[in-house]
Amino acid sequence: PPVSLIGVPTDIGAGHRGARLGPEALRIAGLAEALAAYGVEVTDRGNLDGPRNPWLPPVAGYRHLAEVAAWNRATMEAVYAELQAGRMPVMLGGDHCLGLGSITAVARHCRETGKRLRVLWLDAHADFNTHEVTPSGNIHGMPVACLCGLGPRELTHLGGDAPAIRADEIRQIGIRSVDPGEKRLVKEYGLDIYDMRYIDEVGMKRAMEEALEGVDANTHLHVSFDVDFLDPSIAPGVGTTVLGGPNYREAQLVMEMIADTGRMASLDIVELNPLLDHHNATAELVVDLVESLFGKSTLMRD
Ligand code: ARG
Ligand code: MN
Ligand code: MN
Ligand code: MN
Repeated sequence: PPVSLIGVPTDIGAGHRGARLGPEALRIAGLAEALAAYGVEVTDRGNLDGPRNPWLPPVAGYRHLAEVAAWNRATMEAVYAELQAGRMPVMLGGDHCLGLGSITAVARHCRETGKRLRVLWLDAHADFNTHEVTPSGNIHGMPVACLCGLGPRELTHLGGDAPAIRADEIRQIGIRSVDPGEKRLVKEYGLDIYDMRYIDEVGMKRAMEEALEGVDANTHLHVSFDVDFLDPSIAPGVGTTVLGGPNYREAQLVMEMIADTGRMASLDIVELNPLLDHHNATAELVVDLVESLFGKSTLMRD
């Protein structure tokens, strides 16, 4: 389907400022042009608008809860409108709290069209904190919990009903930083996590085969790509780097295996912070990987 780029220029859920510049950095790195070169019909819808980042300390375990809710409502509406129009939304963050609005919209679309939902969450972090266990109050560490119904009402009920998704609809890949209280919660909810320990032991190919198992012609595959998924040696332009992530070759394989399913129907690209980058190299790497996500390959296909 044709692609719509939706810029969401905010760092409202993050602990560093600068992810608000992510959409522009991706545009300057040539995202739209790269996809067009693969024959994808791309329209850039420009940027959504929302409250400025007041940069305040947490209140009752949340930083900027009202502003996070406002940005996510706007994101949900924009993503939902593109799906309704039969297009593929590509949400350019912005920090990862926006995955909440994006995936809430996708889940609603799936319910209405009878599609089975599968979310691939590519990240160094599980993003399954709550106000009780968060070490930071930053809501970009909480969207998966909120999607599963765990969190404040203004975030869990964005799409009307909670939970937006079931824990068994999501697979997390590349995880290597989970906070102590968060660890207890992901176990309690039974999240399917392919952490770096597992990937080191069985290899990325097998981990991805398992994460994609059951994806069929009736599946809507949503990819939520937190750029800190990548090893910081290749992707320094993010606020929350964690050593020991996928290298360039492993990351390419992930993208190619997703492309091979032919089922990706929506995408988030989040947490890119050009203020921490070197000459926009991380944005350029992301564009390179997204090309693979849309089917660029060396020999196997055209
Ligand atoms: N777990 C940490 C926290 O709750 C870091 C979360 C990082 N999340 C992200 N989307 N980059 O603060
Ligand atoms: Mn559809
Ligand atoms: Mn994340
Ligand atoms: Mn992360």
